[in-house]
Amino acid sequence: MSLAALPLQQHVPTASPLAYGCMGLGGRWDHAPWTDSDVDHAQAAVEAALDIGITLFDHADIYTFGKAESVFGALFRRQPSLRERIVLQSKCGIRFATDSHPKCYDLSGGYIVEAVEASLRRLGTERLDILLLHRPDPLMAPDEIAEAFQRLRTQGKVGHLGVSNMNAGQMAWLGRALDQPLVANQLELGLGHLEPIDAGTCFNDPQAATRPGALAWAGTMEHCQQHGIQIQAWSSLARGRFSGDTAQTSADEPARALVHQLARHHGVSAEGIVLAWLMKHPARIQPVIGTSNPDRIRACGDAMRVTLNRGEWYSLYETARGVPLP
Ligand SMILES: NC(=O)c1ccc[n+]([C@@H]2O[C@H](COP(=O)([O-])OP(=O)(O)OC[C@H]3O[C@@H](n4cnc5c(N)ncnc54)[C@H](OP(=O)(O)O)[C@@H]3O)[C@@H](O)[C@H]2O)c1
Repeated sequence: MSLAALPLQQHVPTASPLAYGCMGLGGRWDHAPWTDSDVDHAQAAVEAALDIGITLFDHADIYTFGKAESVFGALFRRQPSLRERIVLQSKCGIRFATDSHPKCYDLSGGYIVEAVEASLRRLGTERLDILLLHRPDPLMAPDEIAEAFQRLRTQGKVGHLGVSNMNAGQMAWLGRALDQPLVANQLELGLGHLEPIDAGTCFNDPQAATRPGALAWAGTMEHCQQHGIQIQAWSSLARGRFSGDTAQTSADEPARALVHQLARHHGVSAEGIVLAWLMKHPARIQPVIGTSNPDRIRACGDAMRVTLNRGEWYSLYETARGVPLP
């Protein structure tokens, strides 16, 4: 099966159709030091991801309180050739509370530069191929963000800029200040999070309107499609809700059963069907997979061997919604 080009490949030709999310690396979300066994765990996950053709690895400065990046840095020291084989992406902008400040989102220019430099130190590398702004900051000033990005780019510390969890208006506002295109927007999206798709489709469905966030995403996918911005889907596996062997709630069972039925029909894994549902979308969505189980990672590779037809896609959409399309 040949896959159409991803929007991201205009800027990063080696970006893969699936991305690997590194949030599950680095051990527990605590401040205990990372260990060699955390590096072994990351190595097994990265090798499984490379085996299925993944080149793009997605980090954030906050994952496991910085340990995901540190463990990846240790992996680069174990395998120095790895850095040049992959597309390295990280994010900044979420700050946990400390004694000196409350929890906040911080897209001030000074903080962006400081956070990127800290990520580079943890990763032990000189450059992030892509930097994403992790969440919108109500106090953000696009000119200041543009200046910080320009400085990092000129210094060779960041190749491209993208965003995460931003809607169409936020992307347009930020984009006007930049002299480089935004290359990606990472959204919570998949069979477990239909809001960005429902927003443009189910406008006359009173139940959809009551879903948190549903209306905030109106026009977001279309803005990305119009401007060639790569949509990356986080929570793409819905944490196993539809690909697992048993349903996590009775409400999920019909969609879980349908995923497994389609998997048997196409001779692929259930993970392959869940991801193929995203990849059928004409925006050429790039699912970010967060499992660190090597067998499950390899099962995700089936997504590139199956194309759902329109009827299968809509059956999964409506069943996962749990309420009929309007
Ligand atoms: N931009 C943002 O705001 C944002 C937010 C969250 C995450 N992310 C990124 O997106 C990536 C993926 O997000 P995610 O981790 O939320 O999504 P995910 O890929 O939907 O879920 C991964 C999690 O689900 C578990 N899982 C998957 N299939 C399972 C199954 N069949 N049975 C039991 N457990 C199963 C995995 O456990 P195992 O490891 O045991 O398989 C792992 O803990 C992250 O790694 C991160 O890079 C971005």
